[in-house]
Amino acid sequence: MNNFIFQNTTKLIFGKGSIASLTTEVPLDSKVLLTFGGGSVQKNGVYNQVIEALKDHHTIEFWGIEPNPTIETLRAAIALAKQESCDFVLAVGGGSVVDGSKLIAAGALFDGDAWDLVRKPSLYKSALPMAAVITLPATGSEMNRGAVISNKATKEKFSFFSNYPVFSVLDPETTFSLPPYQVACGLADTFVHVIEQYLTTTGQSPLMDRWAEGILQTIIEVAPKIKENQHDYESMATFMLSATMGLNGFIALGVSQDWATHMIGHELTALNGITHGHSLTIVLPGTMWILRGEKGDKILQYGKRVWGIEHSDREVAIRMIIDRTEEFFRSLGLKTRLHENGVGQETIDEIKKRFTERNLHLGENRSVDAHVAGEILDAVK
Ligand code: NZQ
Ligand code: ZN
Repeated sequence: MNNFIFQNTTKLIFGKGSIASLTTEVPLDSKVLLTFGGGSVQKNGVYNQVIEALKDHHTIEFWGIEPNPTIETLRAAIALAKQESCDFVLAVGGGSVVDGSKLIAAGALFDGDAWDLVRKPSLYKSALPMAAVITLPATGSEMNRGAVISNKATKEKFSFFSNYPVFSVLDPETTFSLPPYQVACGLADTFVHVIEQYLTTTGQSPLMDRWAEGILQTIIEVAPKIKENQHDYESMATFMLSATMGLNGFIALGVSQDWATHMIGHELTALNGITHGHSLTIVLPGTMWILRGEKGDKILQYGKRVWGIEHSDREVAIRMIIDRTEEFFRSLGLKTRLHENGVGQETIDEIKKRFTERNLHLGENRSVDAHVAGEILDAVK
């Protein structure tokens, strides 16, 4: 196990009716910028609950943070936060609203263009306190420091790291209104977050391994129940907590991580508009197959413990495990090949070009360069 220092400062407020806690959690003397997406929270009653809880607070609203939040939209929100001298940001929505709000909170205290904060991490110094009411289990953004920001003009998508949310409210009932496609993408995203922190090498930490395998098995168990009844509170609560636990740092203590699948997936979203979770179900099978040399032992452990798959021929076992993983993604209603989503050779070529220009070497062994990324994509054409 590697050395580590761990401190996650987000307070989690979980359960039915928990949006009412905003009344006491948001400082009464603050001027709050409330941030929203495209309107789902108005249809499902979340907006009314937030406004009711904050009726004695001073609030300003910003609407229109889109899926894969763009710098173009966030610049307008930052200008509003500055103009109104807001000193607290409360995001209400999915991961995109929460991610975007992390950049808004940082941008409000930054003199230059917020895109520079994304591209040059050393420029980041501080941010307004921000908190979240999350309505889509997937990203873990409610309890991590990450955000992923897109640039519409250049068709790029990059990560940005800020502070942890001060608190996050998770009411599973808010997820009842999610479109089934977003639920599928959220389940896939959660699954692949765990995989990217687990599917490296064996023997690093038995505790992290069992914890990660536990979340994977939980997602596999709960997915069909959710498909059958998305209004089942216990199933949605389990999914919601799994998503948070999948990317709040808890399962990454002292172990190496990968993230190559995510970085390639981000390019598919930036270039072809594929929904984040769906980009991962396409790339992961390719990553597993092309990197079976270095990841083989861990793939076999994953196959045996999570799926009960064993075979005397190592190569056959690995193929069976990848096929089973793909079957799971397909059971969610998602695809696992580029052509099924209309992605052709020109996208693969562009991703290889970008990886070369950025001199990227991804994965736990830094072995995924432009050439290997191309091989991964070729494997899932
Ligand atoms: O915009 P509104 O109208 O609110 O609708 C949203 C949006 O259209 C809708 N939605 C959200 N909650 C709903 C709902 N509809 C009905 N009922 C509800 N309860 O769902 C649509 C998608 O929302 P979005 O926020 O884009 O989805 P998600 O939470 O999957 O976030 C995706 C973004 O997060 C980034 C992704 O790259 C992508 O940009 N990620 C962030 C991470 C992080 N911060 O750590 C890690 C992840 O790997 C990921 O990269
Ligand atoms: Zn993700």
